[in-house]
Amino acid sequence: MRIKEHPILTFEAKEEIQFYYNGERIVGYRGDTIASALHAAGVKKLSESIHQQRPRGFYCAIGNCASCNMEVNGVPNVRTCITPLEANMDVRQQVGKGRVR
Ligand code: FES
Repeated sequence: MRIKEHPILTFEAKEEIQFYYNGERIVGYRGDTIASALHAAGVKKLSESIHQQRPRGFYCAIGNCASCNMEVNGVPNVRTCITPLEANMDVRQQVGKGRVR
């Protein structure tokens, strides 16, 4: 969900950026982080807890908790809440502690 209209604030149109989430093409916008683009696209579960595989999503949104760790372009443990979105990124839900491919 994105706020498109607001009674006080204005939002300038930004460049669309296409990227991949678990192989599916998704559109975000310049200035998004990976996690904010996914959240706007309806993806709320970003990772799972390591031991009990409970769903994890946005929590601190400032890079302090690791709740949003994902595999980005083959690199595990990327904190997607503070990582700027780039075109054609390959973003995948991480399993466990993650593995370097
Ligand atoms: S949500 Fe806490 S590090 Fe990303």
